[in-house]
Amino acid sequence: MDKIIIEGGVPLKGAIEVSGAKNAALPILAATLLTNEKCIIKNVPVLRDVGTMLKILRSLGIKVQMTGNRVVVGPSQIKQNVAAYKLVSTMRASICVLGPLLAKQRQARVSMPGGCIIGQRPVDLHIKGLRALGAQIKIEHGYIVAKVKELRGSNIFLGGAYGSSVLATANVMMAAVMAKGRSLIENAACEPEIIDLANFLIKMGAKIQGQGTPIIEIEGVKKLGGATHSIIPDRIEAGTHVLAAAITGGDLVIKKAKIEHLSALIDKLTQAGVSVKANSGDIHVKRRSSNLKPVDITTLPYPGFPTDMQAQMMALVTVTDGISVLTEKIFPDRFMHVSELNRMGAEIFLEGASAIVKGGKRLSGAPVMASDLRASAALILAGLVAKGKTEISRIYHLDRGYEQIEEKLIKVGARIKRVKE
Ligand code: UD1
Repeated sequence: MDKIIIEGGVPLKGAIEVSGAKNAALPILAATLLTNEKCIIKNVPVLRDVGTMLKILRSLGIKVQMTGNRVVVGPSQIKQNVAAYKLVSTMRASICVLGPLLAKQRQARVSMPGGCIIGQRPVDLHIKGLRALGAQIKIEHGYIVAKVKELRGSNIFLGGAYGSSVLATANVMMAAVMAKGRSLIENAACEPEIIDLANFLIKMGAKIQGQGTPIIEIEGVKKLGGATHSIIPDRIEAGTHVLAAAITGGDLVIKKAKIEHLSALIDKLTQAGVSVKANSGDIHVKRRSSNLKPVDITTLPYPGFPTDMQAQMMALVTVTDGISVLTEKIFPDRFMHVSELNRMGAEIFLEGASAIVKGGKRLSGAPVMASDLRASAALILAGLVAKGKTEISRIYHLDRGYEQIEEKLIKVGARIKRVKE
């Protein structure tokens, strides 16, 4: 297993380029199942999760080729309707083949994804939405077994205990585009990745309105065709680089990012004393003063503060003076990084779904363990500012979601390397 070693204390300077969004690429690749025709998807990040999705498509009989950041899918036909446990268990987002398989094949067997380290991950909203479109669904031997004679448009309220669901919205939207008649998804997720998926489906011939708002209206069509699409930039990767500049007191230009997708983060950073500005299509980040101010954060569905940035933001507030409170409203147990940050000298206490951070500490390098994707990013940020050497193990989590992270950070001055354990 690889590990990452960082010698901290270097303010990052220069330009860093953002890759395509993992969370847009995964459902968009699943959506190619809706046609037998050829689809070309560009700006696809080379990541382990993308590799898993391509393996799933191949396991269904689909022709797939990835060259650099370009994926060509098809022309081909689905040969079997089962997404097996072996693949689905390695990545929750595999569940987004359920909607397209059901729409195209009228039947699907997709392994239940199960929970993961960031807490319970139920699929009730996916099932509720697809049932509303007429599907019969049961759970059998660990699989979601779905079938339907004909999907029919319907009004679907997709709200759960924690608000909207990104992948349930994606799944239901991908099924509804080929249902007979009109569907209305209420309390739909508004994330930019859902807009990107809708835009791809529209290029394939789907009739969708309202993407990016809580009410999505879909008029079903009989058939979808091939399409060419370029994936939007990864806002979570961009946000992580923004925080890398802030935490090291550096000066970074972040290229190919969309600043309008980062408003909640930028608002908090501005309060903290970091300047984040759009600069002819790029984002320029610089600390305004040497001492940052504490901030309180609550994670919420988009456009609220993203849960996928909570761990990285926590790394930042460990070094800002004063007390910050970070509250999780999406995944209340998503705090595995707390104990590792504390090993580096942070002072963080958990109180229910809130982390209370006594900031202003000088972190010191230590051996730490990555528990999940965004926790790994938080540990890298902490390592970049810590005194001395930080060794992060279990970094296979990182490879699920950050394309060429060390290469990108080395270019802006970080002393970071990957070694075999
Ligand atoms: C997506 C993202 C993930 C991000 C998350 C929240 C992808 C591939 N992954 O995951 O990076 O952290 O959104 O922004 O896009 N819920 C239910 N029932 C369901 C589904 C979800 O109660 O059927 C709950 C979840 O437990 C959670 C909340 O809804 O509390 C939001 O989760 P959801 O938006 O579904 O997350 P994902 O789409 O799986």
